[in-house]
Amino acid sequence: MTLDSITDDFRSARSFTERLVAPLSAEDCLVQSMDDVSPTRWHLAHTTWFFETFVLCEQPGYEAFDPQFNFLFNSYYNTIGAQYPRGQRGLISRPGREQILAYRKHVDQQLLQRLECSQFAAKYRPLIEVGIQHEQQHQELILTDIKHVLSCNPTWPKYQDLPVDTAKQTARDAPITIDEGLYEIGHTGSGFSFDNESPCHRVFLPASSLESRLVTCGEYREFIDAGGYERPEYWLSMGWSAVNQNQWQGPMYWMSVDDQTMQFTLAGLCPLDLDAPVTHVSFFEADAYARWRGKRLPTEFEWEVAASRAPLGNEEPFVDWFVDRDLAIHPTRSPSGFCGSVWQWTASNYLGYPGYQPARGAVGEYSGKFMCDQHVLRGGSVATHSSHIRPTYRNFFPAATRWQFSGIRLAE
Ligand code: AVJ
Ligand code: FE
Repeated sequence: MTLDSITDDFRSARSFTERLVAPLSAEDCLVQSMDDVSPTRWHLAHTTWFFETFVLCEQPGYEAFDPQFNFLFNSYYNTIGAQYPRGQRGLISRPGREQILAYRKHVDQQLLQRLECSQFAAKYRPLIEVGIQHEQQHQELILTDIKHVLSCNPTWPKYQDLPVDTAKQTARDAPITIDEGLYEIGHTGSGFSFDNESPCHRVFLPASSLESRLVTCGEYREFIDAGGYERPEYWLSMGWSAVNQNQWQGPMYWMSVDDQTMQFTLAGLCPLDLDAPVTHVSFFEADAYARWRGKRLPTEFEWEVAASRAPLGNEEPFVDWFVDRDLAIHPTRSPSGFCGSVWQWTASNYLGYPGYQPARGAVGEYSGKFMCDQHVLRGGSVATHSSHIRPTYRNFFPAATRWQFSGIRLAE
């Protein structure tokens, strides 16, 4: 990334966020429908707080836009200070949406003005890059969170009244095979990566093969029809408890209406498309489905090796692709490579690579402290910006998580 492009990248990331929230009313932007969901307004303010705290507040003479925002919009940085309780973010009706947009504008202006100085740009480029990638992570959360919010409304509101992509699932190609051997894992090169993608190291892999496309809704429904959710033999112990405690009977957002299976989407309630990739499944469901098929989930290393052989096309189902075409943000097909459409659960626990060191300072709390009890997902989704993803990218969530666009790619 050159110094000029950091300014452009900052501008486009910030304005893309505003584009994503444009269809929402002020009322939409305040709701928190569960602990994992944050109000849209909170996302708008928190990403701004990130730039303000990690970059602007370091500058002599900069005064915080509002000193109280540090408590309201700090997510989890204990080094920086105490935080307002996560599960109660929907109670924060002030600052209102206009004030939060003014906060964004102020921080954007302050940062852009300083970026005109090349010394400042060179010194703060790494932190601003993290801020841009952070903004993009919250763009995805804005979409998955508002989907959950709207799904709680029995009138099934549409985030946007746009058509769903009619492109069909590509036919199943031959699986991607990996020979037994040593492989390089992790980020190399000069482009941006998060600290959890390093250090690059070698991993020994047994021979394996990964399917060239994602598991479809139709295939997943065969598991349901075969009594998958009633048969403990397919489930991990914690998965079986989750099924029973939450009374799961199928993926999140599937429902039966007059004997037809429907799914709630960002374009409202739609009939289930059996050829589309299954999404909104937990790690437990992905794992049970794979076992029922006599297969398994790939490890994150197998996934990375296979994915790096399948270069990213420019027609992949990422959020900017849908926005540019005025199509509903919804997965209807597998990507031509491994990235896009839905995140893929891997068999791997989220851990640091050998020799992993979190970044220094408060920003070191970004990823490393979550390396316990979470699973790695790979590949990005219809809610991810294409400039945010790469084959070494590691997303992570607890095994019962379903509200992200998470799906399944099988291995054996
Ligand atoms: C990588 C998606 C798990 O949601 O907490 C946002 C992304 N990190 N702000 C999360 C993130 C800091 C992170 N995930
Ligand atoms: Fe964040």
